[in-house]
Amino acid sequence: MAVSDEQLFGAWKTVLQLCKLRPGEFVTLLTSDDVHHQTLRAARLAASDLGGVVTVLTLPAMGAELSMSRDKTAYVGRTALAGNAAAMACLQKSDLVIDLMLLLFSKEQGEILAGGTRMLLAVEPPEVLVRLVPTEDDKRRVLAGARVLGAARTMHVTSAAGTALDCRLGDYPILTEYGFADEPGRWDHWPSGFLATWPNEGTANGRIVIDRGDIIIPFKSYAQAPVTLTVQDGYVRAIEGGFDAEFLRDYMESFRDPEVYAISHVGWGLQPRASWTALGLYDREATLAMDARAYAGNFLFSTGPNTEAGGTRDTPCHIDIPLRGCSVFLDDAPMVLDGAVVPAEQKA
Ligand SMILES: [Fe+2]
Repeated sequence: MAVSDEQLFGAWKTVLQLCKLRPGEFVTLLTSDDVHHQTLRAARLAASDLGGVVTVLTLPAMGAELSMSRDKTAYVGRTALAGNAAAMACLQKSDLVIDLMLLLFSKEQGEILAGGTRMLLAVEPPEVLVRLVPTEDDKRRVLAGARVLGAARTMHVTSAAGTALDCRLGDYPILTEYGFADEPGRWDHWPSGFLATWPNEGTANGRIVIDRGDIIIPFKSYAQAPVTLTVQDGYVRAIEGGFDAEFLRDYMESFRDPEVYAISHVGWGLQPRASWTALGLYDREATLAMDARAYAGNFLFSTGPNTEAGGTRDTPCHIDIPLRGCSVFLDDAPMVLDGAVVPAEQKA
């Protein structure tokens, strides 16, 4: 259903209040050619209504000739901010940046956050935003998971479909996504509700089976038959199965970059309001598929860059794959069993 301006304005006010926007703070809305204009309008009015000093900064879209789709995550890391010192100055002077463009994986995002600027990414269509307005309880559950994940030294993942993956943890930070940026230097993404970290370099080993019905992003398709990934020393070494495997193989090969095969972030979903099925109702270019990344009890793993974790693996191919029906253990303690969240403090 369509969203009224009033409802979207109210949602933005709620989220900006969760972001602790105070009167007099500098708020910059970063936009590009493909911005949702209703989102921009509502965000601008809400930020002004809360007393923010608002700037709208519009940069040209780029990378179309390099990417195979219009999806904002189909080619990551290079943005129109590179070499634009004037735009960088504006963003770095801001207390809060509302990223309606997608700076994720760019080195410029890290430079902006390093100065203490808060940053909130919001590029899903308005109706997804209003369905998944974040709450303080989302934050509570994600931080409860982060405490366990931050202390863990091993992750073990299994599934009835055949997944059996092990990795060591501890070298990389914990990514918490609860949907609002409420601390200096914090980045978050509305909508969200999950957490992750990155395996220590070279330690991911085993097998990941993408089962029928699991979602591969950015294809945003539901696999029709199992795909088996053989993981050795931190990299996917073989992709086997039917059509879905062939498609995934061909896509990854097209980047001609060995780093696209690295295992990137690993974690699990904690958002019961997000839906495994939502993606099936959408045109693939209409959504970033945050429902798929966040639905409660998924095991979300990815391949490609680790620059957002402070690593040096800078590759433009990032594939997120949330799996259903997995069991995720940290140092042998179950976080998820057969696709259901286990710890009471992580449940809604
Ligand atoms: Fe990802």
